[in-house]
Amino acid sequence: MAELVGALGTSHIPAVGVAIDKGRTQEPYWKPYFDKLPPAREWIAAVDPDVCIIVYNDHATAFSLALIPTFALGVGERFGIADEGFGKRPVPEVEGHPDLAWHLAESLILDEFDLTLVNEMEVDHGLTVPLSVAYGQPDRWPCRVIPLAVNVVQYPPPTGNRCFRLGQAIRRAIDSYPGNERVVIFGTGGLSHQLQAERAGLINAEWDAHFLDLLVTDPEAAARIEHIEYLREAGSEGIEMVMWLIMRGAMNPTVREIYRATHVPTSNTHNGLLVLENT
Ligand code: DHB
Ligand code: FE
Repeated sequence: MAELVGALGTSHIPAVGVAIDKGRTQEPYWKPYFDKLPPAREWIAAVDPDVCIIVYNDHATAFSLALIPTFALGVGERFGIADEGFGKRPVPEVEGHPDLAWHLAESLILDEFDLTLVNEMEVDHGLTVPLSVAYGQPDRWPCRVIPLAVNVVQYPPPTGNRCFRLGQAIRRAIDSYPGNERVVIFGTGGLSHQLQAERAGLINAEWDAHFLDLLVTDPEAAARIEHIEYLREAGSEGIEMVMWLIMRGAMNPTVREIYRATHVPTSNTHNGLLVLENT
């Protein structure tokens, strides 16, 4: 039986990827954030998962207004790195796990979560920056990756509650997989940020901390937070945080918080990092 061995939450700020790619992590702006990464990197190196299910959002890269899947599961053999306008990031291609991904597809769809299935797509900073946060700059990623893309770009995104229930269904799927893979699930994006309009630059570290507290200790309450509260408190792009509820839903009702760090600001965003294990 496959085993879910932990969860890692992280923001996916593009400038973090640039800082890593260009060797700027020790510069004064970057050092205080990168100094907070080692416990999370040491944790994932020790846990050494075979597969990471990365819950992320595409930023009008693989998808666009032409096609808006609410939940899209990557079932392909591999996923190329997208050129988001400045050339492809110099990171390894992402190797999929089609067998587990198709098992997830079957289990989730029969469990009444009607996913879009994707054989071919390129992945953007929403997925590659979390991998770089977790693993640095290896020649190839140490784990296979199953991408789960969530629409948080075009309203209406899924509710936090729907995301939490999807996470629970993902857990049932992992638990029923006959392989012996060790799996980590990533929740990515957020925390508070707004990149546009009158409130551009908004950060609400206090609300984010409250969200993370609820996420860890009372996820059912976190799942009840409505879109309007994310918008009001965490800004227009803060809605990315619903993806952390998919991660949390996959974990046990009670979890151990292994590590938490946040940093204000990175680029325009309250940068979050969270590691959980099942109790
Ligand atoms: C920033 C944050 C994001 O989540 C994103 O997708 C793009 C940019 C930022 O803070 O610059
Ligand atoms: Fe984003």
